[in-house]
Amino acid sequence: MSKNYLTSKLQPFGSSIFAEMTKMALENNAINLSQGFPDFDGPEFIKQAACEAINAGHNQYANTFGVPALRKAIADKYNKFYGLSYNPDTEISILAGATEAIFTTIISIINSGDEVIIMEPYYDSYPVAVTMAGGLCRYLTLEFPDFKIDFEKLESLINNKTRMIIINTPHNPSGKVFSRAELETLAKIAVKHDLTVISDEVYEHLTFDGEKHIPTASIEGMFERTVTISSTGKTFSMTGWKIGTVCAPAPICAAVRTAHQYVIFAVATPFQHAMVKGFEAPDSFYKELIEFYTKKRDMMAKTLTDCGFKIVMPKGSYFIMADFTNFGFTNDVEFCKYLASQIKVAAIPPTAFYFNKRHGEKLVRFAFCKKEETLAAAAGRLSSLKISR
Ligand SMILES: Cc1ncc(COP(=O)(O)O)c(C=O)c1O
Repeated sequence: MSKNYLTSKLQPFGSSIFAEMTKMALENNAINLSQGFPDFDGPEFIKQAACEAINAGHNQYANTFGVPALRKAIADKYNKFYGLSYNPDTEISILAGATEAIFTTIISIINSGDEVIIMEPYYDSYPVAVTMAGGLCRYLTLEFPDFKIDFEKLESLINNKTRMIIINTPHNPSGKVFSRAELETLAKIAVKHDLTVISDEVYEHLTFDGEKHIPTASIEGMFERTVTISSTGKTFSMTGWKIGTVCAPAPICAAVRTAHQYVIFAVATPFQHAMVKGFEAPDSFYKELIEFYTKKRDMMAKTLTDCGFKIVMPKGSYFIMADFTNFGFTNDVEFCKYLASQIKVAAIPPTAFYFNKRHGEKLVRFAFCKKEETLAAAAGRLSSLKISR
């Protein structure tokens, strides 16, 4: 038997479900609605800017905290969209995607034995990062179909070891956009117990039906305790460039920067220069982005409803969660295997996003960040699903 080199800490996590489902999609020639990446390119002007940055010689290590012009562009963006004021020299850093931002933030401020409250379903890197930092995860279930925070349960999870809450709004995989009232109640709890909050806001520009994203840091008492994480990969449809952002008050940002220097040191230079151009996009860019994704969401929602899934209409992000029990299955992994191998459409079994697996076992997540022709082809295949009751 070959030796297992993986640390005991990491053994429970295994390989990521995204890699597994993408492999299954390829093997079965299935349409891949599993992983959340667009099957189209981001804007031409940003691609052009990257080529120009390479040709202009921006090819050596970038400033470890991020290209200054990009940090300034991000400061301007937070000011313009949300009235939040971050100092680009001390309160903004560029990291290798939101994933590094989450990992580095957690590893820099969580001590061994500290407890972190994670809302499930979660982005799957949160528990791994907390565990790698030596922290302990405490899970709060957001229940289908409303995905509401049960604030009494939240408070009951807090004790003298609790250091942090992680929130994700707009939320992957549910598509929920947390309301001001919910964020204010969360804020009261965070202030009362002096907790740091990571607010993962990678889908901040993808909200539908007039819903507005509210940054957690904009709620009273939260600026000084919130680490806001975002990703240009989602806003500009360039997930492969891995340019993420961290905005936090100077003392927290300094901690994150310390770890970042030794994890990655610096993020790809020409892509950072190109993203400066991205942030110069006019307001119409954001409006068109919403229209573009609303159309895709509506297409996907109609397909799923017509086939017999019970869906929750997402108000944000580019995912839809659906209940598949009409098709006679009771287990999400089995249903997703059947979908990929027989119907030839790949989706994600959401138990991968739950510690308390039973809450996700009758659900499936579809990503609709795909070309309309991809979504139409998936609709054709999904229509062969048979309702069994
Ligand atoms: C909620 C959430 N956070 C973070 C990320 C990671 O973003 P990035 O690709 O910038 O690392 C994702 C990507 O799917 C996500 O859905």
